[in-house]
Amino acid sequence: MNLKRLLNDRIAAALEASLGEAAPAVVQSAARPEFGDYQANGVMGAAKRLKRNPREVAADVVARADLAGIAARCEIAGPGFLNVTLDDGFLATSLATSAPVEAAPEPETVVVDYSCPNLAKEMHVGHLRSTIIGDAMARVLEALGHTVIRQNHVGDWGTQFGMLLTFLDETGADSELLSDLETFYREAKKRFDADVDFADRSRRAVVGLQRGDPEIRRRWQRFIDISLSHCQEIYDRLGTTLRPEHVMAESAYNDDLDAVIADLDAAGLLEESQGARCVFLDEFKGKDGETLPLIVQKSDGGYLYATTDLAAVRYRARRLEADRVMYFTDARQALHFRQVFAVAGRAGFARDGMSLEHHPFGAMLGTDGKPFKTRAGEVVKLIQLLDEAEERALAEVTRRNPELPEAERREIARVIGIGAVKYADLSKNRTSDYVFDWDQMLSF
Ligand code: ARG
Repeated sequence: MNLKRLLNDRIAAALEASLGEAAPAVVQSAARPEFGDYQANGVMGAAKRLKRNPREVAADVVARADLAGIAARCEIAGPGFLNVTLDDGFLATSLATSAPVEAAPEPETVVVDYSCPNLAKEMHVGHLRSTIIGDAMARVLEALGHTVIRQNHVGDWGTQFGMLLTFLDETGADSELLSDLETFYREAKKRFDADVDFADRSRRAVVGLQRGDPEIRRRWQRFIDISLSHCQEIYDRLGTTLRPEHVMAESAYNDDLDAVIADLDAAGLLEESQGARCVFLDEFKGKDGETLPLIVQKSDGGYLYATTDLAAVRYRARRLEADRVMYFTDARQALHFRQVFAVAGRAGFARDGMSLEHHPFGAMLGTDGKPFKTRAGEVVKLIQLLDEAEERALAEVTRRNPELPEAERREIARVIGIGAVKYADLSKNRTSDYVFDWDQMLSF
């Protein structure tokens, strides 16, 4: 339903009944919030043409207009404007029942790759943006009738897990520290840098992890589960649609990586450079005009972020039969994705006509214009950020409506606080950096 069209029709009908001939109602969004939601500007022109008193015509139109159940108020202002305030109940039911979009003529299978935190650490603001924007996109595509497959490509593999698991072994699996992964990571890194023996054990743990040593795998799984449960807590609080079953972690592609390398080799794309295996495509040039490599295997045989992403494209094409894949990460990964998409195309990992799209977003900055950090220069914990949004909203709600019972104020604050965090993100130009400003975010 189009509200403006509806009001236009109703007011034009009243205008015609009043004047005895058709005249446009000229309904627009209200110029200022205090005028209501919409204004009709057509009365003055029509009255003037017929040499009638505009305010009288306006009063007659208000009396005749069939706006029952639609408008809470329709008032005459100035020389004959009509200010319309919509009825809250009408708005609520319209939102709940109207399909806001027309179904896509040719529904596609769309993979939306979003959120994707690294489980070694706490989720940070970049992942918050990816989660909010990606989830909105997944919902929009679903509303349009597409088949959406959510993929949370979490980072759960790599050398840093050797260090973390060794530290977990030392501190004990029930360590308090695990409730704060950021600190856990920092402490582990401290140990790693200070203690040769610890570093050595960490490296052996990586090898054990890769070889599938059952004890190391068990500890790794436990760590991953804890870290993922922190993420799920955030997803639930944000009211996003991400669920555990959408996790398709980097490690899920481990068994495909040899085949990826073999396919690249068979396609004649592999080259060796300083012991590492790379793909060089002419279209990717560095500042000095030299061709940039996409490194797919390190000299020690280890695979990289790019290798896993190639395997993911292959999986999404062959197994998920995706027509389109959309990636939501910050703009710093633009080159990575351009290279991965180009190589995937050459190697035949992508299907014909399959659209691979990176939708980058800008960084979140503090009010000082620097990357968003705590005063101590630390990463902002997202749970704390959501807590603070709700606390600030509660203070504002309490200031405005102290008479409401506390439970009700808290619920309103929760809805407004979380809503404000999401709206602040979605209302901005996606690709520019944006300043995270509490006051602006929670200004009513
Ligand atoms: N884990 C990555 C990061 O935190 C994002 C992954 C995005 N998705 C992908 N398929 N590469 O930066």
